[in-house]
Order: sequence, then structure tokens, then C-alpha cells
Amino acid sequence: NTDSNSNIQDQVTKQAIEEAAGLIRKGGVVAFPTETVYGLGADARNTTAVEAVFAAKGRPSDNPLIVHIADRSQLTELIADVPSVALTLMDAYWPGPLTIVLPLLPNVLSSRVTAGLDTVGVRMPDHPIALALIAEANCPVAAPSANRSGRPSPTLASHVVEDLDGRIDGVLDGGPAGVGLESTVIRVFPNGDVQVLRPGGITIEQLSSVTGAKVISVGGALIEAQSAVSPDHHNDMGIHQSYADMDSSEPPRSPGVKYAHYAPHGQLTIVRGSSPQAVRDRIISMLGEYTLDGNVTGLLAFDEHLSGYPANSANYIISLGSLATPAEAAYKLYAALRFCDEKGVTFMLAEACSEEGLGEAVMNRLIKAAGGRVLDLS
Ligand code: TXA
Ligand code: MG
Repeated sequence: NTDSNSNIQDQVTKQAIEEAAGLIRKGGVVAFPTETVYGLGADARNTTAVEAVFAAKGRPSDNPLIVHIADRSQLTELIADVPSVALTLMDAYWPGPLTIVLPLLPNVLSSRVTAGLDTVGVRMPDHPIALALIAEANCPVAAPSANRSGRPSPTLASHVVEDLDGRIDGVLDGGPAGVGLESTVIRVFPNGDVQVLRPGGITIEQLSSVTGAKVISVGGALIEAQSAVSPDHHNDMGIHQSYADMDSSEPPRSPGVKYAHYAPHGQLTIVRGSSPQAVRDRIISMLGEYTLDGNVTGLLAFDEHLSGYPANSANYIISLGSLATPAEAAYKLYAALRFCDEKGVTFMLAEACSEEGLGEAVMNRLIKAAGGRVLDLS
């Protein structure tokens, strides 16, 4: 019957988690599901293990990893002083898609995790498998998204296999990840100011509603401006600046923002404008031109507009869900980009959505995936 089936399933899962935790304890690297995307986990205290994470992803070594914990007691081993605003946010949103950058105690983690910074991004994921794995491994788990560097983050175990097969020690398959986009990364300053370094699963509205604190959003534009910094100026990003010297009026110092991200193989452009008809007409005509040029074409559009596109206007027309529910677009975006790659799509256009709520994170990732190519009609 179903009951004993689910018991067997539970045992299989428990065994897999124990096996994966054993691998992490021995210095291995294992991919696991979280409520945002799949992560690639390693013991954050073990330099060899952390280096293996960077190597498997092909990740630049100056881009620090997020450290995952299963229990608040693990926090005291990492951070000396947690500002009260940070505690309030943890109470409200942990476990959950919120990463908080705080000053790190010396000599508790491999310095590779933080890329030499004196701060660390910490989060407690809201996923039973992730929490059980971290608890069983009994260590802080460093885990970036489990994709090859520059590829869309994995929302399924099969995406991890696609990118990292043969390069890691295992994958815990927990089905589809939840939110579909990565966590919100924030800094909390000693004075209680909150700065968003990367929009994500927890919205600006959610951050300010519980803290009453000043929340500074960096916004897609500023992130894009930073990603245009030339590689010669890496060290001007203030990566080695001390946390104590920072204040919230300075530009964000999340090293990851300067790298190209989430890129599909084909060329993606976002078409945006106040008139949906004008956007649609332009999209149809551009797709037509690029098809004549021999491209395999793709279109990412919202449900409200889908019926306006003739079926033959692109080789692949993919829904991002309803404009009214950006959570759908968040959930579908990375899989849609990977689908286009699989189909050999060379030219893609995407509609834009409003940057309210989770829409801000969706547009942030979409603009990154497009390498900043946004065609503004209005
Ligand atoms: O949802 C998520 O956050 C997923 C899952 C697996 O937890 N993880 C994830 O990790 O997206 P990753 O490595 O792909 O992105 C981490 C981001 C990067 O942009 C990095 O630069 C930033 O967090 N970051 C990490 N530590 C930081 C620090 N000490 N200061 C500033 N930014 C930091
Ligand atoms: Mg990532």
C-alpha cells in the first residue's frame, strides 16, 4: 500500500542523506536540493574540499561561497556579533531564501570560502533534505549553486548532472527546487541598515516590513554597471576591504556581481515597453528577420500575451506564466533557458515583467542572462 511505499521511500532518502553526509565529512563534494536551486556542498572548514567545489564549477577563486547551516547554534561558531536587525530577519525568514553577510570570526572556516574577505554569507535553507544533510554532516556547508560557472542555476537534479557529471562525488535528487531563483543576499550594517546585494526569494517589501530598517536596493541597473568593470580592476572592487570600514552608502561589494551569469548558449534580448502591442509587433518582426537569417528562434512570453503570437512566429514559444504571479516566472526561467540550449536555439527574445515583489529578482536574472541587452521601446 501507499503507506509502506512512502516508508520505503523515506528509508531510501535517509540512506542517501547519510551517504552524502559521509562524503562531505570525508572532504567530498555533493549536490543537494534547496528551496531555491540545487547547491554544491562541501565542508566549509576543509580547504581541499572547498577548492574542489571551485574546480568542479570552474568558478573564479575570488567569488566567495555561501555557508549553509541547519541550526541557529551553528551561527555562534561563525559570527561574534549578530546585529539585532539581522536576528529579526532570521526569526522572520529562516529557514528560507535569505543570505545574510556578517563579519566572520577568524580561523573557523577555510579562507577559500570567503575568498579572503572578513565577512561570510550565511543562510539556513528551507528544505528538509538540505537541513538533514547539513545536520548529519555536522559542519558548516559551503555551497554555491550547482551549475558550471556562467550557466543558469540548476532547478532539477538532471540539470546538475548535465553540468557537473564526472566532476563531483554525488547528487542527492530531491525533485524540483522550490523558488527557482537563488536566495536574496543582504548585508546588515552595525547601525542596522540593510543593503540588498542580490535580489532573490525574499523581496525588499518583506525585508522592510519586519525590520522597519532602511533597505537599500542596488537594483538591476547598478548590478549591471558593476558587471561592466574590466577584469584588470578586480582588486578595485574593495574585495579585501574590512567590514568595519564599510557603511551602507557605499556601492555593493558582492564579488559575484561582476561576473557574467546565467547565460544561455544563444543570444537573448529583452524587449520592454509600455505598450504590449508595440512590444509584440517588434518581437514578431525581429523573430521573422532572425529566422530568415537561419537562426533557431525562441520566445519567452507571459500568458496574457501568448495568444497574440502566431504559432509560427518562433521555433519555440515558452510561457513564463502569468504577469500577475512573478513566482511562476521565477520557477520557470532557468529551465526555460536550459530548454532553449537543448533545442539549439541561437536567437531568443523575452518579454519583461514588472519589477514589483519577486519580479525584481526575475528581471535581475533575465537581464543578466541577456548580458544586459534590453531593447526599450518606450
Ligand atoms: O539560493 C542560493 O543562495 C543558492 C543555494 C545553493 O543556497 N546558492 C547560491 O550561491 O546562489 P552562489 O555561490 O551561486 O552565489 C553566492 C552569491 C555570490 O554572488 C557571491 O558573490 C555572494 O553571494 N557572496 C557570498 N559571500 C559574500 C560575502 N562575504 N560578501 C558579499 N557577497 C558574498
Ligand atoms: Mg550561482
